[in-house]
Amino acid sequence: MYYSEELIEEVRMKNDIVDVVSGYVKLQKKGSSHWGLCPFHNEKSPSFSVSGAKQMYHCFGCGAGGNVFTFVMNYENFTFPEAVKALADRAGVKLPEMEYTPEMKQRADRRSRLLEVNKEAAKYFYYQLRTPHGEVGQKYLQKRALTEETMHRFGLGYAGKNGALLVEYLRKKGFEDDLIKEAGLATFSEKNGLLSQFWNRVMFPIQDINNRVIGFGGRVMGDGEPKYLNSPETPVFDKRRNLYGLNFARTARSGNIILCEGYMDVIAMHQAGFTQAVASLGTAFTVEQAALLHRYTENVLLAYDSDGAGVKAALRGIGILREVGLTGKVINMKPYKDPDEFIKNLGREAFQERIDKAENSFFFEIRILEEQYDQKDPEARTRFHREIARKLCQFTEEVERENYLQAVAEKYFIRCDDLRKLVISYASQTGLAKPIERPRSGIRQKNSPEENGKKAQRLLITWITDEPALYQKVKKYVTAQDFTEELYRQVAERLFADLEAGNYNPAGIISMFEDEEQQREAAALFNTTLPKLQTRQEREKAFHDILMTVKKNSYEYYTAKLGTDVNALKQVIDGKKALEELAKTHISLDAGQE
Ligand code: GTP
Ligand code: MN
Repeated sequence: MYYSEELIEEVRMKNDIVDVVSGYVKLQKKGSSHWGLCPFHNEKSPSFSVSGAKQMYHCFGCGAGGNVFTFVMNYENFTFPEAVKALADRAGVKLPEMEYTPEMKQRADRRSRLLEVNKEAAKYFYYQLRTPHGEVGQKYLQKRALTEETMHRFGLGYAGKNGALLVEYLRKKGFEDDLIKEAGLATFSEKNGLLSQFWNRVMFPIQDINNRVIGFGGRVMGDGEPKYLNSPETPVFDKRRNLYGLNFARTARSGNIILCEGYMDVIAMHQAGFTQAVASLGTAFTVEQAALLHRYTENVLLAYDSDGAGVKAALRGIGILREVGLTGKVINMKPYKDPDEFIKNLGREAFQERIDKAENSFFFEIRILEEQYDQKDPEARTRFHREIARKLCQFTEEVERENYLQAVAEKYFIRCDDLRKLVISYASQTGLAKPIERPRSGIRQKNSPEENGKKAQRLLITWITDEPALYQKVKKYVTAQDFTEELYRQVAERLFADLEAGNYNPAGIISMFEDEEQQREAAALFNTTLPKLQTRQEREKAFHDILMTVKKNSYEYYTAKLGTDVNALKQVIDGKKALEELAKTHISLDAGQE
């Protein structure tokens, strides 16, 4: 952290969130909140609310939320220190000098220069495509059935036949040779001087989620090697952490994201209305990209090529998605090679059907496996079954494993008991797969005990922040230790300490976290939707249920940790006492807090 906590708090308090947000979004007062159209996703009716009392915002549509810093970070794409700086300027708060070391400042300047030169190059290519020289490019893209609107949307361009012209243009715009080189837009040789390697290709600018051009892919028109020439990695172009099309897909609101292999697939799908399509950047799909996708969705559908290489890539992709807790599904593209061809031939409705029928990745894996064993040969069939059993062992949760076991047994005409025996035998030899960390698992059922426990924790925090007086009534039963999610616990610890000190300040708690994603998650804790209940009895019962669920969850959590965590025993003993007492205690709420 660059600034002291007090200073950050001062800046925050001098920037009323309703004022600040009003500078960007048209807000209307309704009840205790202000409402408007969410600037972080496309919507027609307002689900974006700003609370002056809480000094927070929250979107009920896309889940965006936070305090005034989060808003500015998100809207302006600032880092936390940058947001603090901007709001300090706005409110006339003086920040200490030298908050950046000269190296940091230089690096930041370099990055923005690289983004500028990329943007200028993208403009150049875009313009070239629309000159008579660019007609070949136009023709090619038209032949690929792209409309002018699509070309415009993706900023497609054309690199002319002479690689020196781009360099000349960029120099004229004031960019130094070093920068042009560092951006990967040209290379130097003794013979030719500085020359762009992009020539006579149609150009696909690659944008990050904030629509900034970070690199390029250039495709030959027709056959030729290499088919795609991509910018090299640069300080602004990290191929592991960006996805083509995500700048649009993040606001598609389709309930899923479709991962495909190629730029052309993404473009064809967007043109057909599937704006949730993304692709990796000429390199294999990475864990970082999977984690990025998980920020936006629980449902990732793979739309990989239907050939052998595509199947292999899909199997690999499934594993990577699983690592971040996502169960992918696989879209069947047959009889076509890829989404681009599929849509061209069968159209959007047919593709939508394939989306609806996408296959669970586990069944996809088993189906591919099946093809590798001669099902008529008893011995091969046994090996196939063993292989299924081995795969089932990756599900460490019993209920889940059993569900899959039954489903797969039925599908492949295997007796459940036989398969179960194989699983047990396999597991006893090798142990069940270690559970992988699944922070926000897609496999986890919505109403699993774990998810219920988390939900109750969120509800409790929201309820207490809405009625701070409740804290005094519940502190006997609940402590921050009962919040079993790390981030929740940090928030609860601080909230309870603040309330204890008679200083209620939820928006300040959010600034504990510098990361925008964590701020969003913390803010969500204060903005869950409480049950809409009329009578006081109903409300008291609901509140009591929530408390009980939080305590039970915590009790189970620490019970499972007995023997490995020194704190667990005390938590378990205290927890049991509190649970018993709570079970027979009535906690009264004030009437009519609607
Ligand atoms: P079309 O063949 O024009 O339909 O393009 P596509 O996007 O469908 O490409 P394809 O399925 O052949 O390849 C998928 C992705 O792999 C491309 O979008 C590129 O990102 C990458 N790729 C393909 N060929 C090359 C290559 O020669 N070099 C590099 N670096 N990447 C490539
Ligand atoms: Mn293709």
